[in-house]
Amino acid sequence: MRRKVVAANWKMNTTYGEATVLAKAIARRVEDFEGIDTIIAPPFLWLLHLKEILSVAPSSLFFAAQNASWKQEGALTGEISPRMLKGSVDYIILGHSERRAQFNETDSLVADKIEACLEEKINPIVCVGETTQSKSGNIDPIIIKQVKSALKPFNRENIKRAMFAYEPRWAIGTGLNASGHHALKVIDAIREEIKQEFGIEASEETRILYGGSVDAQTVTEYTTFESIDGVLVGKASLQAREFIRIASEVQGES
Ligand code: PGA
Repeated sequence: MRRKVVAANWKMNTTYGEATVLAKAIARRVEDFEGIDTIIAPPFLWLLHLKEILSVAPSSLFFAAQNASWKQEGALTGEISPRMLKGSVDYIILGHSERRAQFNETDSLVADKIEACLEEKINPIVCVGETTQSKSGNIDPIIIKQVKSALKPFNRENIKRAMFAYEPRWAIGTGLNASGHHALKVIDAIREEIKQEFGIEASEETRILYGGSVDAQTVTEYTTFESIDGVLVGKASLQAREFIRIASEVQGES
């Protein structure tokens, strides 16, 4: 049985004080959502502090980094490696569309980052998604290309660490959403790729989320489908009350 997930990607938002207040407000309510996994991805800078103040948080609360380097150490000014993150995070978000679009991250760089992340036994959350909305409703081949490339660093053993997120770029931060049916179609196609590569068991165990303008209203589009394992939330995760409403919708359907 795959546990449902609600993940908060704070992106480059929050001051130290705001992050403290927000994390505490979420942690206070996480006990109500013990049937699901709650993941917070704050900016790197607040990770250790938040882990410290939430040290007695329930076991269903996890931390994620929003990115990491493809190398573990070296002359790479400004980078942070999976080795440095080990112990501070359970997950690392990789291949987010903002990184692909604004930092020129290619499929092969994303694959290298996944490999570095797996070396340190951290679980990658791999984001994939098309740039423009398809008028036909067909699955954009770019998604399958991204998935195929992202699966390369995995094997039958470490595929268990993988989580995927279908995040169409046109839906991120725009207030536009992929319909639940479309998200389901893409998520099933991603699951099929995992099955082709690593067999049915791996495909049935891998959690695949939807992300892109999810809020307390739109979340119900996705929670009704068994195959959609949860949501990755950006903007709406910056308001504790809204994020908690999203989490309770996800919990409600699990
Ligand atoms: P959004 O971001 O909810 O603000 O659209 C989602 C994401 O980028 O993960």
